[in-house]
Amino acid sequence: MKQEKLLYLETFGCQMNVSDSEKIVALLKGIGYGETSEAAQADLILLNTCSIRATAENRMYGHLGKFKSLKKRKPELIIGVGGCVAQQEGEQLLRKAPFVNLVFGTHNLQLLPEMVRAAAAGKRRIETTFIDNEERFDLFPITGAEEGGVTRFVTVMQGCDNFCSYCIVPYVRGREISRKAEKVVQEIAQLAAAGVTEVTLLGQNVNSYDLKSPGEPDFPELLHMVAQIEGIKRLRFTTSHPKDISERLISCFAEIPKLAPHIHLPAQSGSDRILAAMNRGYTRAQYLEKIAALKSACPGIQITGDIIVGFPGEDEAAFEDTLSLVEEVQYADLFSFIYSPRPGTKAAELPDDARRAEKQPRLERLQERQRQVTLGRNQSMVGTVQQVLVEGPSTSGEELFGRTGGNRGTIMMGERSLAGRVVDVRIIEGLQTLLRGEIINA
Ligand code: 5AD
Ligand code: SF4
Repeated sequence: MKQEKLLYLETFGCQMNVSDSEKIVALLKGIGYGETSEAAQADLILLNTCSIRATAENRMYGHLGKFKSLKKRKPELIIGVGGCVAQQEGEQLLRKAPFVNLVFGTHNLQLLPEMVRAAAAGKRRIETTFIDNEERFDLFPITGAEEGGVTRFVTVMQGCDNFCSYCIVPYVRGREISRKAEKVVQEIAQLAAAGVTEVTLLGQNVNSYDLKSPGEPDFPELLHMVAQIEGIKRLRFTTSHPKDISERLISCFAEIPKLAPHIHLPAQSGSDRILAAMNRGYTRAQYLEKIAALKSACPGIQITGDIIVGFPGEDEAAFEDTLSLVEEVQYADLFSFIYSPRPGTKAAELPDDARRAEKQPRLERLQERQRQVTLGRNQSMVGTVQQVLVEGPSTSGEELFGRTGGNRGTIMMGERSLAGRVVDVRIIEGLQTLLRGEIINA
């Protein structure tokens, strides 16, 4: 029997990349590659990259450097780079890293089997053409059903048309394209039949899901359709843009019992001046109105967000506006980043006047404040009973890990056979990043 070849795949960045990596594994399985977690064992090394901030991009080049020596020892080793850095850099990447055999963009995964074969025959290949129609969702077989699991991400749209001035996503992921509702429903029904109980509808900007033809559902309607699929107990979606979250979408939290009480709604800044410079399309007051409407439609909803610190023009007063917004929203959790100029974006042309020496302490102040809020919120849950979807064993292997409806990670003692079940858990301890609880009704 012919021996299986081995693929070592490293994934950086967001959930869309994780989802693309699942497709890559399935496609390459089709041409005889199994996966290995040891780069030194591999016949094919692929990096699925992220370019959202310079740090992510630099990390990728660091990793790539390590593989150079492997290639010296094993000249037939094929090394490929895909994802957002590959899309952005294209030819330049081949020049910067001459030992790389193939470069594939964010719309070109389906070409990988052919590209790998070509690389094995000694050809260097690069493909970064965008496919700007919804057919690109059909280029892959539906993957993952065979693996089952408890919770899965399902792509409903890709790309972004918003052009926030700091963001590279519209350049590396292309225009917004929505996937046909019937395909989304078909994939989720298949996952549900394989035992999956929770799905998260995924897209760069799910609120603007739109098939642009009469009679097709919009995002709130899609949520109602998915909620009807038998076997699915819990439904989530990410990521939302504040300017596109409609009253109808907010009402879904009241109307659809399966829709989990959590939303990730990035504000990016609390200053109107900075929000305008970011081209976000909403003011601080409008953002806070949406938050108030969500809290009123769904009391107890957990809100998470993203903040960029040190955007060009951010002075102390603008930063204080961000701090006060964060205080007002009371996020369950907050992801915050120092602004990183990205090549080709509008903001990269602005004078970046705030010095790093100012940005770093601002980030630390924000993160310290949020840590207190998160801990306080987690502690205030002690004594409450939460519905926890058990995902499987905890990292230590001795307990179970699951998530509350509000998406708080929870650990508790219990049988592994509870994976996939929603159990009642009394919270006994609120830690910084986790809740600890005991199952009271399985
Ligand atoms: N610099 C810093 N953070 C950024 N993000 C996006 N682009 C940049 C950038 N150029 C952050 C935003 C976004 C999250 C995914 O990454 O907060 O919501
Ligand atoms: Fe980037 Fe803005 Fe699009 Fe989000 S909405 S992906 S931040 S351009």
